Amino acid sequence: MEEEVSGLKPARVLAIETSCDETAAAVIENGRALLSSVVASQMGIHARYGGVFPEVASRQHVLSIIPVIEQTLDKAKLSLNDIDALAVTQGPGLAGSLVVGMNTAKGLALGSNKPLIGVNHMEGHLYSAWVYPADQNPAPEPTFPLMALLVSGGHTELNLMTDHLKYQRLGSTLDDAAGEAFDKVARVLELPYPGGPSIQKAAEGGDSKRFDFPRAWLEGTWNFSFSGLKTAVLYTVQDLKKNGEVLPVSDLAASFQQAVVDVLFKKTILAAREFGAKEILVAGGVSANKSLRETVKSQAEFPVHIPPLSLCTDNAAMIGAAGYFRYALGHASKLEIDVLPTWPLS
Ligand code: KG4
Ligand code: ZN
Repeated sequence: MEEEVSGLKPARVLAIETSCDETAAAVIENGRALLSSVVASQMGIHARYGGVFPEVASRQHVLSIIPVIEQTLDKAKLSLNDIDALAVTQGPGLAGSLVVGMNTAKGLALGSNKPLIGVNHMEGHLYSAWVYPADQNPAPEPTFPLMALLVSGGHTELNLMTDHLKYQRLGSTLDDAAGEAFDKVARVLELPYPGGPSIQKAAEGGDSKRFDFPRAWLEGTWNFSFSGLKTAVLYTVQDLKKNGEVLPVSDLAASFQQAVVDVLFKKTILAAREFGAKEILVAGGVSANKSLRETVKSQAEFPVHIPPLSLCTDNAAMIGAAGYFRYALGHASKLEIDVLPTWPLS
């Protein structure tokens, strides 16, 4: 294993992520080089309920976790002996799902006498920007201070990252998270779960100017709000239906998506300027959104880091990356740690 240029001790981390409906494991070297990553998605199982069914999710994790870890080590051509530390998502997430990953990681750490590192899932999303496939050239490493927009199904936050593991939370959503708004609006438009990718698909070719949906700027704060936008879409749909019109789903989806992207992009840029950030980082499930990615990449005057699509939604590579920096910077956890279903980043 090569020594990291940053001077941190080298380490190979086996990471486990079970916070929601993906059972995932990964092996990562020195916080960046991804040797293998396996994600067993439960999407098909939850689709019939229109959202994640927590009890079903935890039972599915129990069935998948060991095969997923075995497959991950096999793909990396490694055994547990070749691993220096274990990282696991500690929270936030569904309690019953988190427990499966946590107990598996504890068992492996105890049985092999290796350190265990509990990782905040949102911190993991941020560190997805550090990851690159081990067989490719390293992507440029993000430099601090970084303005980080975290947009997932449960969170929407602007964080100023001043150094590794150092966050200043500037603002967050006052109501729905951006991903939650995508999921709820998809239901209103009768589009399949999960809502984000469905809306993105429906929006292709739609007229994003047809409906002038509200943008909650919340000026003077770095907070967000998406529930007014969601309600505006709902009322528009109800009016159209009352008038017996066929729903212009593409135009509604495109206009909604544009309203979300406008707010996320503009507030991130303004915050980056205000706080003297050198670069911008966008992460979390909604960072998979094509319109958001293209807008940030083409219009920001800052270097931009957005993880590849496979690392935007939940995965264990990001947990391994964050876990490595925690481990290398002396923050290994005790074996007594427990899951924290709600656990703010800062
Ligand atoms: O990070 P993530 O996989 O799980 C959480 O930590 O919450 O994020 C899931 C969220 C869901 O709300 C999903 O609809 C949204 O990310 N999402 C998207 C896209 N892909 C996933 N939202 C907009 N456009 C997408 N392409
Ligand atoms: Zn996530």
